[in-house]
Formats: sequence, structure tokens, C-alpha cells
Amino acid sequence: MNAEELSKIANAMVAPGRGILAMDESHPTCNGRFEKLGIATTEEMRQAYRDMLVTAPGLSDYISGAILFDETIRQKTLDGTPFPEFLSKNGIIPGIKVDAGAKVLAGHESEKVTEGLDGLRERFAEYHKLGARFSKWRAVITIGEHIPSWACIEANAHGLARYALLSQEAGIVPIVEPEVLMDGDHSIERCYEVTELTQRIVFQQLRNQGVLLEGMVLKPSMVISGAMAKNRADAKAVAKQTVRCLLNTVPAAVPGLAFLSGGQSDEEASSHLNAMNALGVQLPWALTFSYGRALQQTAMKTWKGDNANIDKAQQTILWRAKCNGSAALGKYSDAMEQQAA
Ligand code: 13P
Repeated sequence: MNAEELSKIANAMVAPGRGILAMDESHPTCNGRFEKLGIATTEEMRQAYRDMLVTAPGLSDYISGAILFDETIRQKTLDGTPFPEFLSKNGIIPGIKVDAGAKVLAGHESEKVTEGLDGLRERFAEYHKLGARFSKWRAVITIGEHIPSWACIEANAHGLARYALLSQEAGIVPIVEPEVLMDGDHSIERCYEVTELTQRIVFQQLRNQGVLLEGMVLKPSMVISGAMAKNRADAKAVAKQTVRCLLNTVPAAVPGLAFLSGGQSDEEASSHLNAMNALGVQLPWALTFSYGRALQQTAMKTWKGDNANIDKAQQTILWRAKCNGSAALGKYSDAMEQQAA
């Protein structure tokens, strides 16, 4: 493990005003989104869609890295360049999702544990050869009556730590993603409680396994009211509670945190990230984005699988990237959105 190299990559991933494009949807997730928009669910269309995203002119002004799915890291852009090579040439670090998905946790039917450790050392060696310099593993924690259980948090945290170390061993920076789901009608206080406990156990496990904190990026969910909650907390409250939770749990040695969007609207995701960076609290790490839906959903709707819409769709992804890049600096505002509209 080359600590200096890992730390250099991790710092580049969270460089000021830049964040990560999560475009690593598995086939079922990507196809499900395509189907809703009437886009054919073929390998060629997934390639064409992802080509449209990464070839958006100027994307690297705001995007430091892109997380690819196994299919994409082996594909070429439409001009015949392998995706990882195209990204590197354009100043975007190629990354790879390596987990095999969240499956029902034995003995706990309403909870999940992420699988994918078997054979992971060999897969990492191959992904490194293919150009990946960072990776991602997502664990999901569900809030409900009597859950999450200790068993669920511990099993997922252990998996994240084992994955992270294998990633670093291969010279690949791990993105450690413990997502506390927004599903449900829980309060922001309940979300705080669960997120704090989860982060605490995750870092305990990362330390137990010997993960180099300077050579990783944390991808947390925000401390936020449940999607179905009646009185949802505003952006200021989300920012305050999220920052407080992370200051209590995330060691200062971690170079940066890149949030997931988790089903928030485009504007919510930008405004929440901005509010955190505009709080005026001095933070030991960078706070940026690693959004999937909040960067892509409008671009996908605009594209709809039709070449005639490429320019417009690219302007859309670029716009969301710019808004979130500004939010990472605390310089995003509603006025910015109104101007664009
Ligand atoms: P969302 O931003 O759509 O939650 O996706 C981010 C991600 O990579 C989830 O693993």
C-alpha cells in the first residue's frame, strides 16, 4: 500500500469546488430508470447514455471523479476510447463500484447486508489494470420500528472495513458509503441518532482493520427528515445536524466527505450541501458531493435516448455539476437557479 499515493488521489477527489459523478447504476437500476422514460434497455443504450454524460464539454471543471459500473469500465466511448482512458485524459479520475449489492440479512428480514467480498482481491487487481484509481462500496441502513438492529450496523460496518482495506492494498482509494435511507416518516432527530451510531461503528471497524484514514473518502447520507415525514426540517437544520453528527464521528485525518443524494430533488441536494459549507463552522475535511440522481435525473429525462437531445442533456448535466460545485464552496444560491430558468 502506497500511503502517499492513496492520500494524493483521495485529496484530488475532494478538491475545492469539485465532486464525484456517481454513474455506477447496476443493470436493474439503470434499466428501471430507462424503462420509465421509454428508453430501450440495451447495452448500446447504456453506453450511449454514459457517453453523453462524460463527453459533456467542461464537465471536469466541477467533476473530479466518476464512479463506473463493471460494464462501463470495459466499454468504449462512442469515439472508440475506453471509458477510463477518456476520463483520465479529461482530468476526471475513473472509479469503480465493487460491491455486489445489498441482500436480505439472515435472521433480520427487513434489513440488508452488502455482499461482494469473495474474490475481491483479484477483482481489484483487474480493475487497477483497467484504470480504476478509486472504488465504492455501499451499505444500507434502514430506519423503522425497532430497526436498525445492532447486527445490521455491525455486519455492514465490518464489510465496509474489509472492503476498504482490500481496496487500499490494490492502490485504489475506497469510498466508504454507509447510507442511512431516507425512506419512512421518521424525524430528523431519529435520523441523527441512527446516523451517529452508524458512523461511530463504521469508524471503529475501519480502525480495527487498519484502514488508512488519509487514503479514503467517506460517502455519508445527510441527517434529514424521512421522505414521508410531516414537518420536514429545513436546509439550515439539515446542515447543522449533519455537520454536528459528522464532527462527532469522523476523524480529522479523513481528507473529505462526498455526500450521496439519496432521493433528494436536484435543488434540495444542492441547497443542503451549500448550507453546510456556508455555516461558518471550521471543518477538518472537505464537504462535497458524490451524487447519482441529483446530477443525472434531469439530464436523463432530457436525453430520452434520442441523439437530437444530446446537446440539451449535456447542458443539463453540466448545470447540475456547476450548481453542486458552487455548493461545495458555499457559493450556490436560489438566484443561480432562477437565472438559469
Ligand atoms: P444517489 O445520489 O442517487 O443517492 O446515488 C449515489 C450513489 O452512488 C448511491 O450508491
